[in-house]
Amino acid sequence: MTHQVRAVVARGKGAPVSLETIIVPDPGPGEALVRIEACGVCHTDLHYREGGINDDFPFLLGHEAAGVVESVGEDVADVAPGDFVILNWRAVCGQCRACLRGRPWYCFDTHNAKQKMTLTDGTELSPALGIGAFAEKTLVAAGQCTKVDRAASAAAAGLLGCGVMAGIGAAINTGNVGRGDSVAVIGCGGVGAAAIAGAGLAGAAKVIAVDIDDRKLETAKKLGATHTVNSKDVDAVEAIGALTGGFGADVVIEAVGRPETYKQAFYARDLAGTVVLVGVPTPEMKLELPLLDVFGRGGALKSSWYGDCLPSRDFPMLIDLYLQGRLDLDAFVTETIALDEVEKAFERMHHGDVLRSVVVL
Ligand code: APR
Ligand code: ZN
Ligand code: ZN
Repeated sequence: MTHQVRAVVARGKGAPVSLETIIVPDPGPGEALVRIEACGVCHTDLHYREGGINDDFPFLLGHEAAGVVESVGEDVADVAPGDFVILNWRAVCGQCRACLRGRPWYCFDTHNAKQKMTLTDGTELSPALGIGAFAEKTLVAAGQCTKVDRAASAAAAGLLGCGVMAGIGAAINTGNVGRGDSVAVIGCGGVGAAAIAGAGLAGAAKVIAVDIDDRKLETAKKLGATHTVNSKDVDAVEAIGALTGGFGADVVIEAVGRPETYKQAFYARDLAGTVVLVGVPTPEMKLELPLLDVFGRGGALKSSWYGDCLPSRDFPMLIDLYLQGRLDLDAFVTETIALDEVEKAFERMHHGDVLRSVVVL
Protein backbone atom coordinates (compact mmCIF):
# COMPACT_ATOMS: atom_id res chain seq x y z
CA MET A 1 0.00 0.00 0.00
CA THR A 2 1.05 3.62 -0.49
CA HIS A 3 -0.09 6.91 1.02
CA GLN A 4 -0.76 10.16 -0.84
CA VAL A 5 0.09 13.13 1.36
CA ARG A 6 0.83 16.84 1.04
CA ALA A 7 4.46 17.88 1.33
CA VAL A 8 6.89 20.76 0.73
CA VAL A 9 9.17 20.08 -2.23
CA ALA A 10 12.13 22.03 -3.63
CA ARG A 11 12.09 21.30 -7.37
CA GLY A 12 15.10 23.25 -8.57
CA LYS A 13 18.05 25.42 -7.53
CA GLY A 14 16.86 28.66 -5.93
CA ALA A 15 13.23 28.17 -7.00
CA PRO A 16 10.57 28.79 -4.35
CA VAL A 17 9.37 25.61 -2.66
CA SER A 18 5.97 24.22 -3.62
CA LEU A 19 3.26 22.26 -1.86
CA GLU A 20 2.87 18.94 -3.71
CA THR A 21 1.16 15.60 -3.37
CA ILE A 22 3.73 12.87 -2.79
CA ILE A 23 3.55 9.09 -2.59
CA VAL A 24 4.85 7.46 0.59
CA PRO A 25 5.23 3.65 0.62
CA ASP A 26 4.25 1.46 3.55
CA PRO A 27 7.25 0.62 5.74
CA GLY A 28 9.41 -2.31 4.71
CA PRO A 29 11.93 -4.13 6.91
CA GLY A 30 13.70 -1.74 9.28
CA GLU A 31 11.44 1.18 8.35
CA ALA A 32 8.75 3.26 10.07
CA LEU A 33 5.96 5.44 8.70
CA VAL A 34 5.51 8.54 10.85
CA ARG A 35 2.55 10.94 10.90
CA ILE A 36 4.25 14.31 11.37
CA GLU A 37 2.80 16.71 13.96
CA ALA A 38 5.43 19.47 13.81
CA CYS A 39 8.62 20.32 11.94
CA GLY A 40 10.93 23.30 12.47
CA VAL A 41 12.39 25.36 9.62
CA CYS A 42 16.21 25.16 9.67
CA HIS A 43 18.93 26.90 7.64
CA THR A 44 19.86 23.55 6.19
CA ASP A 45 16.46 23.32 4.44
CA LEU A 46 17.12 26.65 2.75
CA HIS A 47 20.62 25.46 1.92
CA TYR A 48 19.15 22.41 0.13
CA ARG A 49 16.74 24.63 -1.81
CA GLU A 50 19.63 26.82 -2.93
CA GLY A 51 21.56 23.80 -4.22
CA GLY A 52 24.23 24.33 -1.55
CA ILE A 53 24.24 20.70 -0.34
CA ASN A 54 24.02 18.77 -3.61
CA ASP A 55 22.09 18.66 -6.89
CA ASP A 56 19.76 15.76 -6.11
CA PHE A 57 16.55 17.72 -6.79
CA PRO A 58 13.66 17.39 -6.11
CA PHE A 59 14.19 17.58 -2.35
CA LEU A 60 11.56 16.78 0.24
CA LEU A 61 12.48 19.39 2.85
CA GLY A 62 12.09 19.44 6.65
CA HIS A 63 14.05 17.52 9.29
CA GLU A 64 13.43 18.93 12.80
CA ALA A 65 10.32 16.94 13.50
CA ALA A 66 8.15 15.09 15.96
CA GLY A 67 5.16 12.89 15.25
CA VAL A 68 3.44 9.59 15.90
CA VAL A 69 4.49 6.25 14.44
CA GLU A 70 1.68 5.01 12.23
CA SER A 71 3.13 1.65 11.19
CA VAL A 72 6.43 -0.22 11.20
CA GLY A 73 8.11 -2.88 9.03
CA GLU A 74 7.89 -6.50 10.12
CA ASP A 75 11.25 -6.78 11.91
CA VAL A 76 11.03 -3.49 13.84
CA ALA A 77 11.05 -3.90 17.63
CA ASP A 78 12.33 -0.61 19.07
CA VAL A 79 9.33 1.54 18.13
CA ALA A 80 5.67 0.64 17.71
CA PRO A 81 2.57 2.22 16.19
CA GLY A 82 1.26 4.95 18.48
CA ASP A 83 4.69 5.93 19.86
CA PHE A 84 5.33 9.68 20.03
CA VAL A 85 8.79 10.13 18.51
CA ILE A 86 11.39 12.73 17.62
CA LEU A 87 13.11 12.06 14.29
CA ASN A 88 16.90 12.10 14.15
CA TRP A 89 19.57 11.94 11.49
CA ARG A 90 21.86 9.75 13.57
CA ALA A 91 20.36 6.28 13.36
CA VAL A 92 23.32 4.40 14.84
CA CYS A 93 24.42 1.27 12.98
CA GLY A 94 26.01 -0.66 15.84
CA GLN A 95 28.62 -2.07 13.44
CA CYS A 96 30.99 0.72 12.37
CA ARG A 97 34.35 1.36 14.03
CA ALA A 98 32.89 4.14 16.21
CA CYS A 99 29.96 2.01 17.37
CA LEU A 100 32.17 -1.01 18.01
CA ARG A 101 34.46 1.10 20.21
CA GLY A 102 31.49 2.16 22.34
CA ARG A 103 31.18 5.65 20.83
CA PRO A 104 27.85 5.43 18.98
CA TRP A 105 27.33 9.21 19.16
CA TYR A 106 29.99 9.43 16.44
CA CYS A 107 28.45 6.60 14.34
CA PHE A 108 30.11 6.82 10.90
CA ASP A 109 27.49 4.73 9.08
CA THR A 110 24.03 6.05 9.93
CA HIS A 111 21.12 4.88 7.80
CA ASN A 112 17.79 6.03 6.33
CA ALA A 113 14.74 4.36 4.81
CA LYS A 114 15.63 2.12 1.84
CA GLN A 115 12.41 2.68 -0.12
CA LYS A 116 11.96 5.98 -1.93
CA MET A 117 9.16 8.49 -1.58
CA THR A 118 8.15 9.93 -4.97
CA LEU A 119 6.17 12.63 -6.74
CA THR A 120 2.90 11.40 -8.30
CA ASP A 121 4.71 10.95 -11.66
CA GLY A 122 7.15 8.54 -10.02
CA THR A 123 10.10 10.94 -9.71
CA GLU A 124 12.14 9.93 -6.66
CA LEU A 125 12.48 12.51 -3.89
CA SER A 126 15.64 13.20 -1.88
CA PRO A 127 14.58 13.73 1.75
CA ALA A 128 16.53 16.46 3.58
CA LEU A 129 19.03 14.79 5.96
CA GLY A 130 17.34 11.49 5.17
CA ILE A 131 14.14 12.67 6.89
CA GLY A 132 11.84 14.89 4.77
CA ALA A 133 9.27 15.98 7.34
CA PHE A 134 7.49 19.00 5.85
CA ALA A 135 4.91 16.36 5.00
CA GLU A 136 1.81 14.88 6.54
CA LYS A 137 3.62 11.53 6.66
CA THR A 138 7.18 10.47 6.02
CA LEU A 139 9.09 7.19 5.74
CA VAL A 140 12.28 6.81 7.77
CA ALA A 141 14.53 4.09 9.15
CA ALA A 142 13.10 2.89 12.47
CA GLY A 143 16.40 3.87 14.11
CA GLN A 144 15.64 7.48 13.18
CA CYS A 145 12.70 7.47 15.61
CA THR A 146 13.29 8.10 19.30
CA LYS A 147 10.33 7.61 21.62
CA VAL A 148 9.77 10.41 24.13
CA ASP A 149 7.07 11.40 26.64
CA ARG A 150 3.80 12.18 24.84
CA ALA A 151 3.14 15.07 27.23
CA ALA A 152 5.66 17.28 25.39
CA SER A 153 4.46 19.75 22.76
CA ALA A 154 5.34 18.44 19.30
CA ALA A 155 6.55 21.86 18.12
CA ALA A 156 9.07 22.10 20.95
CA ALA A 157 10.07 18.42 20.92
CA GLY A 158 10.80 18.34 17.18
CA LEU A 159 13.45 21.02 17.55
CA LEU A 160 15.61 18.55 19.46
CA GLY A 161 15.91 16.68 16.15
CA CYS A 162 18.51 19.15 14.85
CA GLY A 163 19.59 22.69 15.78
CA VAL A 164 18.57 22.79 19.43
CA MET A 165 20.19 19.41 20.10
CA ALA A 166 23.31 20.59 18.27
CA GLY A 167 23.55 23.60 20.59
CA ILE A 168 22.75 21.84 23.86
CA GLY A 169 25.07 18.99 22.91
CA ALA A 170 27.89 21.39 22.02
CA ALA A 171 27.81 22.48 25.67
CA ILE A 172 27.01 19.29 27.57
CA ASN A 173 28.56 16.60 25.31
CA THR A 174 31.36 18.15 23.25
CA GLY A 175 32.33 21.01 25.58
CA ASN A 176 31.77 18.87 28.66
CA VAL A 177 30.73 21.98 30.59
CA GLY A 178 30.73 21.31 34.32
CA ARG A 179 29.57 22.90 37.57
CA GLY A 180 31.14 26.30 38.15
CA ASP A 181 32.58 26.70 34.66
CA SER A 182 32.57 29.99 32.81
CA VAL A 183 31.16 29.62 29.29
CA ALA A 184 30.95 32.07 26.40
CA VAL A 185 28.76 31.45 23.36
CA ILE A 186 29.50 33.41 20.18
CA GLY A 187 26.43 33.65 17.95
CA CYS A 188 23.05 33.31 19.65
CA GLY A 189 20.70 32.07 16.93
CA GLY A 190 18.79 28.83 17.49
CA VAL A 191 21.99 26.83 17.94
CA GLY A 192 23.85 29.32 20.16
CA ALA A 193 20.78 29.99 22.31
CA ALA A 194 20.49 26.25 22.86
CA ALA A 195 24.17 26.11 23.85
CA ILE A 196 23.40 28.78 26.46
CA ALA A 197 20.53 26.69 27.83
CA GLY A 198 22.80 23.61 27.79
CA ALA A 199 25.57 25.41 29.69
CA GLY A 200 23.03 26.35 32.36
CA LEU A 201 21.77 22.75 32.60
CA ALA A 202 25.34 21.56 33.12
CA GLY A 203 25.87 23.96 36.04
CA ALA A 204 27.93 26.74 34.47
CA ALA A 205 28.43 29.61 36.90
CA LYS A 206 28.80 32.27 34.23
CA VAL A 207 27.27 32.18 30.76
CA ILE A 208 28.28 35.01 28.43
CA ALA A 209 26.19 35.49 25.28
CA VAL A 210 27.86 37.25 22.33
CA ASP A 211 26.00 38.39 19.22
CA ILE A 212 25.78 41.42 16.92
CA ASP A 213 21.98 41.51 17.18
CA ASP A 214 20.39 42.84 20.38
CA ARG A 215 17.21 40.83 19.75
CA LYS A 216 19.23 37.62 20.00
CA LEU A 217 20.89 38.81 23.20
CA GLU A 218 17.48 39.39 24.78
CA THR A 219 16.44 35.80 24.05
CA ALA A 220 19.80 34.59 25.31
CA LYS A 221 19.07 36.22 28.68
CA LYS A 222 15.74 34.42 28.87
CA LEU A 223 17.54 31.13 28.30
CA GLY A 224 20.02 31.72 31.10
CA ALA A 225 22.81 34.01 29.87
CA THR A 226 24.23 35.82 32.89
CA HIS A 227 26.02 38.44 30.75
CA THR A 228 25.59 39.71 27.20
CA VAL A 229 28.05 41.32 24.80
CA ASN A 230 27.12 43.04 21.56
CA SER A 231 30.31 42.47 19.55
CA LYS A 232 29.32 45.08 16.98
CA ASP A 233 30.04 47.72 19.63
CA VAL A 234 32.88 46.17 21.62
CA ASP A 235 35.70 43.70 21.10
CA ALA A 236 34.38 40.24 21.97
CA VAL A 237 37.71 38.91 23.26
CA GLU A 238 38.29 41.90 25.54
CA ALA A 239 34.72 41.86 26.79
CA ILE A 240 34.81 38.15 27.64
CA GLY A 241 38.20 38.69 29.30
CA ALA A 242 36.85 41.54 31.41
CA LEU A 243 33.95 39.35 32.55
CA THR A 244 36.26 36.48 33.58
CA GLY A 245 38.86 38.22 35.72
CA GLY A 246 41.04 38.89 32.67
CA PHE A 247 41.53 35.17 32.00
CA GLY A 248 38.94 34.11 29.44
CA ALA A 249 36.21 31.50 29.66
CA ASP A 250 36.73 27.81 30.42
CA VAL A 251 34.63 26.83 27.41
CA VAL A 252 33.91 29.01 24.36
CA ILE A 253 31.31 27.79 21.89
CA GLU A 254 31.40 29.16 18.35
CA ALA A 255 27.89 28.97 16.86
CA VAL A 256 28.32 31.15 13.77
CA GLY A 257 30.73 29.17 11.58
CA ARG A 258 33.14 31.87 10.42
CA PRO A 259 36.93 32.31 10.75
CA GLU A 260 36.62 35.72 12.52
CA THR A 261 34.33 34.36 15.20
CA TYR A 262 36.41 31.19 15.52
CA LYS A 263 39.48 33.35 16.23
CA GLN A 264 37.49 35.25 18.83
CA ALA A 265 36.57 31.95 20.45
CA PHE A 266 40.19 30.82 20.34
CA TYR A 267 41.49 33.94 22.10
CA ALA A 268 38.55 34.41 24.48
CA ARG A 269 39.33 31.11 26.19
CA ASP A 270 41.34 30.65 29.38
CA LEU A 271 44.61 28.68 29.26
CA ALA A 272 43.86 24.97 28.90
CA GLY A 273 40.25 25.80 28.07
CA THR A 274 38.08 24.30 25.35
CA VAL A 275 36.84 25.74 22.07
CA VAL A 276 33.82 24.05 20.52
CA LEU A 277 33.00 24.75 16.87
CA VAL A 278 29.32 23.97 16.23
CA GLY A 279 28.74 26.61 13.53
CA VAL A 280 29.20 25.13 10.07
CA PRO A 281 31.73 26.90 7.80
CA THR A 282 31.53 27.03 3.99
CA PRO A 283 34.15 25.35 1.74
CA GLU A 284 36.10 28.51 0.88
CA MET A 285 36.73 29.59 4.49
CA LYS A 286 40.29 29.41 5.83
CA LEU A 287 41.69 29.80 9.32
CA GLU A 288 45.14 31.18 10.12
CA LEU A 289 46.52 31.06 13.66
CA PRO A 290 50.06 31.28 15.06
CA LEU A 291 50.95 27.65 15.76
CA LEU A 292 52.75 28.80 18.89
CA ASP A 293 49.44 30.10 20.23
CA VAL A 294 47.77 26.78 19.49
CA PHE A 295 50.49 25.07 21.51
CA GLY A 296 51.01 27.72 24.15
CA ARG A 297 47.36 28.10 25.11
CA GLY A 298 46.87 24.36 25.51
CA GLY A 299 43.48 22.81 26.06
CA ALA A 300 41.22 21.42 23.39
CA LEU A 301 39.92 22.60 20.03
CA LYS A 302 36.89 20.48 19.21
CA SER A 303 34.17 20.29 16.58
CA SER A 304 30.66 19.26 17.52
CA TRP A 305 28.72 17.14 15.03
CA TYR A 306 25.02 17.32 15.85
CA GLY A 307 26.01 18.08 19.44
CA ASP A 308 27.73 14.66 19.59
CA CYS A 309 24.30 13.49 20.63
CA LEU A 310 23.10 9.95 21.09
CA PRO A 311 19.38 10.32 20.40
CA SER A 312 18.34 7.34 22.52
CA ARG A 313 20.20 8.78 25.49
CA ASP A 314 19.72 12.52 25.01
CA PHE A 315 16.22 13.07 23.58
CA PRO A 316 14.19 11.38 26.37
CA MET A 317 16.39 12.99 29.03
CA LEU A 318 15.99 16.51 27.57
CA ILE A 319 12.23 16.04 27.12
CA ASP A 320 11.99 15.03 30.79
CA LEU A 321 13.89 18.18 31.81
CA TYR A 322 11.55 20.21 29.58
CA LEU A 323 8.48 18.69 31.22
CA GLN A 324 9.95 19.46 34.65
CA GLY A 325 10.32 23.12 33.66
CA ARG A 326 14.13 22.98 33.67
CA LEU A 327 14.67 23.45 29.92
CA ASP A 328 12.56 26.03 28.11
CA LEU A 329 12.21 24.45 24.67
CA ASP A 330 9.10 26.58 24.02
CA ALA A 331 11.34 29.67 23.98
CA PHE A 332 12.82 28.46 20.68
CA VAL A 333 9.45 28.40 18.94
CA THR A 334 9.09 31.97 17.70
CA GLU A 335 6.02 31.20 15.58
CA THR A 336 3.97 28.26 14.38
CA ILE A 337 3.00 28.20 10.71
CA ALA A 338 1.11 26.06 8.19
CA LEU A 339 2.71 23.72 5.65
CA ASP A 340 2.25 26.24 2.83
CA GLU A 341 4.14 29.00 4.69
CA VAL A 342 7.65 27.53 4.58
CA GLU A 343 8.79 29.93 1.87
CA LYS A 344 7.71 32.90 4.01
CA ALA A 345 9.54 31.38 6.97
CA PHE A 346 12.76 31.20 4.92
CA GLU A 347 12.40 34.93 4.34
CA ARG A 348 11.99 35.69 8.05
CA MET A 349 14.89 33.40 8.92
CA HIS A 350 17.07 35.22 6.41
CA HIS A 351 16.31 38.53 8.16
CA GLY A 352 17.15 37.07 11.57
CA ASP A 353 13.60 37.65 12.83
CA VAL A 354 13.13 34.22 14.36
CA LEU A 355 14.89 31.53 16.37
CA ARG A 356 12.61 28.95 14.79
CA SER A 357 9.41 28.96 12.73
CA VAL A 358 7.72 25.62 13.26
CA VAL A 359 5.26 24.02 10.84
CA VAL A 360 2.40 22.48 12.78
CA LEU A 361 0.24 19.91 10.99
N1 APR B 1 29.59 37.80 15.72
C1 APR B 1 28.64 37.38 16.59
N2 APR B 1 27.46 36.86 16.18
C2 APR B 1 27.23 36.79 14.87
C3 APR B 1 28.18 37.22 13.91
C4 APR B 1 29.40 37.76 14.39
N3 APR B 1 30.36 38.18 13.55
N4 APR B 1 27.65 37.01 12.67
C5 APR B 1 26.42 36.49 12.86
N5 APR B 1 26.16 36.36 14.18
C6 APR B 1 24.97 35.83 14.83
C7 APR B 1 23.67 36.23 14.15
O1 APR B 1 23.24 37.53 14.57
C8 APR B 1 22.73 35.14 14.64
O2 APR B 1 22.09 35.47 15.85
O3 APR B 1 24.99 34.43 14.76
C9 APR B 1 23.67 33.96 14.85
C10 APR B 1 23.49 32.86 13.84
O4 APR B 1 22.25 32.32 14.09
P1 APR B 1 21.28 31.75 13.00
O5 APR B 1 21.52 32.43 11.71
O6 APR B 1 19.91 31.72 13.59
O7 APR B 1 21.79 30.24 12.81
P2 APR B 1 21.64 28.98 13.76
O8 APR B 1 20.46 28.19 13.35
O9 APR B 1 21.79 29.34 15.18
O10 APR B 1 22.94 28.16 13.30
C11 APR B 1 24.22 28.70 13.55
O11 APR B 1 25.27 26.56 13.49
O12 APR B 1 24.47 24.50 12.90
C12 APR B 1 25.14 25.62 12.48
O13 APR B 1 24.68 25.69 10.12
C13 APR B 1 24.47 26.32 11.35
O14 APR B 1 26.38 27.58 10.86
C14 APR B 1 25.10 27.65 11.44
C15 APR B 1 25.27 27.85 12.93
ZN1 ZN C 1 27.91 3.05 13.65
ZN1 ZN D 1 18.63 21.46 10.90
